[in-house]
Amino acid sequence: MSRYQPPKIASSEITPQGLYLNRRGLMGLAAGGIAAAAAPGAFAAALTATPSAYKVDAKLTSKEDVTTYNNFYEFGTGKEDPSRNAGSLNTRPWTIEVGGLVAKPQVIDIETIMRDYTMEERVYRMRCVEAWSMVIPWIGFPISALLDKVEPLGSAKYVAFETLVRPEEMQGQAGIFQALDWPYVEGLRLDEARHPLAILATGLYGETLPNQNGAPIRLVVPWKYGFKGIKSIVKITLTEQEPPSTWNRLQASEYGFYANVNPAVDHPRWSQATERRIGEADGLFGGARVDTLPFNGYADEVASLYAGMDLTKFY
Ligand code: MTE
Repeated sequence: MSRYQPPKIASSEITPQGLYLNRRGLMGLAAGGIAAAAAPGAFAAALTATPSAYKVDAKLTSKEDVTTYNNFYEFGTGKEDPSRNAGSLNTRPWTIEVGGLVAKPQVIDIETIMRDYTMEERVYRMRCVEAWSMVIPWIGFPISALLDKVEPLGSAKYVAFETLVRPEEMQGQAGIFQALDWPYVEGLRLDEARHPLAILATGLYGETLPNQNGAPIRLVVPWKYGFKGIKSIVKITLTEQEPPSTWNRLQASEYGFYANVNPAVDHPRWSQATERRIGEADGLFGGARVDTLPFNGYADEVASLYAGMDLTKFY
């Protein structure tokens, strides 16, 4: 994010007003797995109905924008590179190695996850550190469900996540110019990872996760800046020490480990007080601007995780 220009919005990225959420379709999908199985590419696993706590009183970002305006440097640094280039990624077979400070380390097959974990639809506000935002209907399950399976030891304090390295299928990892050090890595404190809002997503908009959004499984932590949402995860490790995170390692003065959305702490090169909702009606300065909320609007749920911490220091 320190290596490219702030995004300019193209007219092709404006959401047609008519796309304002097909809620009925989604809810129908949530209510019955049969409808899901019938629609092409639709989510096959059983979905539970959306709990009201995971709804957002805002317009959904169009599926078109959610799946064509992405950050996924393994496929290039441009916003449209992931949707153009991620088709080359094979997401089957796929396993996730879960280990470190746990009683029951496991290599879990993605098919097992799709079959055994109860998927829920969660509509989350998502806030990128680049001061734009989206509202996305994810499908996933709480990370805590997976952590329970491996039984973290008392000494485990953090959860480290790692993305696939496969230059043959990820063109951003091949060649001379490498935007980042691979693998892309991220981390959470264990209590953050256990918070019910923090999920591993396997789908969006009622369908299996598109490759550009992090198939087959990625992290979604709605009260943190988007870069924490590591994609295409192959490894999860419980640790005692704070694990490295890609953007923090690259530029610690700009990207902290915590990365909680905080309108009061500016990025060194821009304000975080407001955000541009991708796809909403163009304003004078290109895109509707809305105020950024502490913890991205989830303060009631998560602020207690950070009681007593100086959030200007632990940004
Ligand atoms: N995960 C990997 N492996 N590689 C990346 O480059 N980019 C991050 C995050 N996860 C990234 C990643 C950033 S900067 C953002 S804003 C979000 O993914 C974007 O997620 P989206 O494209 O699904 O909206």
